[in-house]
Amino acid sequence: MRAACRAARPEQRRLGFVPTMGALHAGHISLVRAARQQCDAVAVSIFVNPTQFGPKEDFSKYPRSFERDRETLEAEGVAILFAPSTEEMYPPGATTFVAVEGLSEKLCGRSRPGHFRGVATVVAKLFNIVEPDCAFFGQKDAAQAAIIRRLVRDLDLDVEIVVCPIVREPDGLALSSRNAYLDSQQREQATVLYRSLMRVQTLADTGESDSARLIAAALEVFEQEPAVRLDYFEIVDRDTLDPVANTSQGALVAVAAFVGSTRLIDNIVLHGAG
Ligand code: PAF
Repeated sequence: MRAACRAARPEQRRLGFVPTMGALHAGHISLVRAARQQCDAVAVSIFVNPTQFGPKEDFSKYPRSFERDRETLEAEGVAILFAPSTEEMYPPGATTFVAVEGLSEKLCGRSRPGHFRGVATVVAKLFNIVEPDCAFFGQKDAAQAAIIRRLVRDLDLDVEIVVCPIVREPDGLALSSRNAYLDSQQREQATVLYRSLMRVQTLADTGESDSARLIAAALEVFEQEPAVRLDYFEIVDRDTLDPVANTSQGALVAVAAFVGSTRLIDNIVLHGAG
C-alpha cells in the first residue's frame, strides 16, 4: 500500500486520503470529491475498525457493502483503495495504542469508552501507511475531527486535515451508515436531532447566546419525541470540547441520541458575534 501511494504521488503532487468504514453514502462521496478537487490523486480506505467498537456495540452487524463501495469509488476516479484485513492492521500481539487524553473522554467518548482511542490508533496507523498530504473527514463526527486535529498537532504528523460539511437528507437527517438500521417510524423520529439543532440555530439567530437557555429549548423539542432517548445535548468549544456558557465567541452544538437501539449523532456550528 505504501509503495502504491508513493507511486501515485510523484514529486510535487498531492495525495488526498479519505479513511472510511465502508457502507458508503453521499457524505463519503462528498469527501472523495473534495479530495479530488484539492489533490492530484485520491486514496480511500475501507476498514471496519474493531478497536473503536465497544463490546456491546454493533461491530459485527455494521453494514458492509464492499463490492458496491468498490464500484462507487472506481466511478468517482479514486486511484487507490485500501481494504486491509483485521489481522493485517492488528497482527497478533499488537498492544500499542494512541490516546488523545482529555478530548477522548468528552461528548461521544463519555458514552463510548475507548472509542476515540480506537479511532486515533487506526487513523495514526493509516496515516503512516498511506502518507497522505491531505486527509478528509466529515463534520458530522465533530469530536472525531477535533481529536484528529489534536493528534496531528501533538505527534507532528505531516498531514493537512480537511473537515467537510455534513450532508443531509431533504428533511435534515444527517447521512450516516447507521441510518440503514432505522425502520420507517424510527426514520421519522430520527429527525428530532436536526429539529432540536434548528431550534437552537433559530434562537441564536434572534440573539440568544446563553447556552443553558439554548439547551433548554432543544430539550423541549426532544420531549415531543419520547421514543427517542437522548444521550447528550451539549454546547462546547470546537477545539477543546469543553462546555461553553455563552456562544458569543462561536460554539459547537452537538447531540447524540438513541432511536431504538441505533445511536445517531449530529451537530451545528454557531458562529460568534464576530
Ligand atoms: O469516521 C469513520 O468512518 C471512522 O471513525 C474512521 C475515521 C474511518 C476510523 O475508523
